[in-house]
Amino acid sequence: ISRRSFPQGFVFGTSSSSYQYEGGVKEGGKGPSIWDTFTHQHPEKIADRSNGDVAVDSYHMYKKDVELMNDMGMDAYRFSISWPRILPNGSLSGGINREGVNYYNNLINELLSKRVQPYVTIFHWDSPQALEDKYGGFLSPNIVNDFKDYAEVCFKEFGDRVKHWITFNQPSVFSSGGYDTGTKAPGRCSPWEGKCSAGDSAREPYIVGHHQLLAHAETVRLYKEKYQAMQNGKIGITLVSHWFLPFSRSKLDATAAKYSLDFMLGWFMDPLIRGEYPSSMKGLVGNRMPELTKEESELVKGSFDFIGINYYTTNYANHAPPSNGLNASYSTDSQANLTGVRNGVPLGPKAASPWLYIYPQGLRELLLYVKENYGNPTIYITENGVDEANNKTMPLQEALKDNTRIYYYRTHLLALLSAIRDGANVKGYFAWSLLDNFEWANGFTVRFGLHFVDYNDGCKRYPKKSARWFKEFLEKSA
Ligand code: GCO
Repeated sequence: ISRRSFPQGFVFGTSSSSYQYEGGVKEGGKGPSIWDTFTHQHPEKIADRSNGDVAVDSYHMYKKDVELMNDMGMDAYRFSISWPRILPNGSLSGGINREGVNYYNNLINELLSKRVQPYVTIFHWDSPQALEDKYGGFLSPNIVNDFKDYAEVCFKEFGDRVKHWITFNQPSVFSSGGYDTGTKAPGRCSPWEGKCSAGDSAREPYIVGHHQLLAHAETVRLYKEKYQAMQNGKIGITLVSHWFLPFSRSKLDATAAKYSLDFMLGWFMDPLIRGEYPSSMKGLVGNRMPELTKEESELVKGSFDFIGINYYTTNYANHAPPSNGLNASYSTDSQANLTGVRNGVPLGPKAASPWLYIYPQGLRELLLYVKENYGNPTIYITENGVDEANNKTMPLQEALKDNTRIYYYRTHLLALLSAIRDGANVKGYFAWSLLDNFEWANGFTVRFGLHFVDYNDGCKRYPKKSARWFKEFLEKSA
């Protein structure tokens, strides 16, 4: 397989995010984000008690990173802008931080000088702490306007050169991780904090999901009305979904698989395509689910030029008894238990992260499901990747031999190609990730990179075997 097998103009790139890559958290006038607060106030929530203060130092090393992309022959780079680096206190009234704007200008210009197209995520989870303090961040409808203002600064400053915008990244995970399990910033509703009542915990993920959806749709409207014609770009949103297989042949497990998909993908995909939350969710979540008013529904419906899909893995879904409604929240509302193992047999080879089983057919199934059920929208695969453990005693030369990652990319690209041949409307593919990086609650304990980062030696980057494999895959186009 090589890029020659893919349609003309198909885009290949790698993907990243500001908090996981940049570091420089106190440099260049940046304000604190909720991830700065979370990692510093609760180091026990991060596997190795680490944080993104330095991350992989892309704030200083971005030129090196662009060079690596260029060496591999990548067409594009997906990165995110740190909101508090642009607006240190979250809203326009606090002023625009020119140093922050300059950083992204430099990055974008460096990319373009190497003919790598920027695909920019406006928000990848690091919202300003100032807005958290002011009104509870995404729990408040006030976030919609502040987000829109921030996005507008991005369009004005960078839109002459950025032709692909992604408003939000994985809103379902921002909601569930931040407001249900509490494993991600702002870490709410988890027992260790002990301050959420059952009622709150049951509502918050859905409220936060709702506000993300509205902020997305308002921003898309703004872009379309004021900027699109002039700047000639496209705008979309990135959703994540696993594929789900019923654990058994029972009807209940088939339903559990469908519900799981609704809670992970449909939660946002249904409103974007049909202007409504999935009926399964409305039924199961009941009045804890905010309603989309008629105007909101019309605003949200069709508010994209493309949908980004992040795919990593597949799960079996097993029917779980309905919860009693007291502690019901995102994870239990779907009435499914998820597992990657059946009768002792895993779905596929296991990666380092316990949730990640390698199952490339799932990507194909998911794409064909989207094609059949959602009217075949334009899709970019905005993330796909696999990790290995950060083994501190392993010699560097060994750590670079990432044969599992080569297997992962080769088989997923084949699955993608087969979905495209069956009509899935996919225009590009982004690997997660160019570099090893800060993996949220897992800190630096796992490595997702095509390049190895030596955290003991100034974040020096070394290509793994997979980076060479990818380069060859891309070169074969010539
Ligand atoms: C996201 C993802 C990434 C992760 C990757 C590996 O928000 O897009 O969570 O940031 O690093 O999915 O788990």
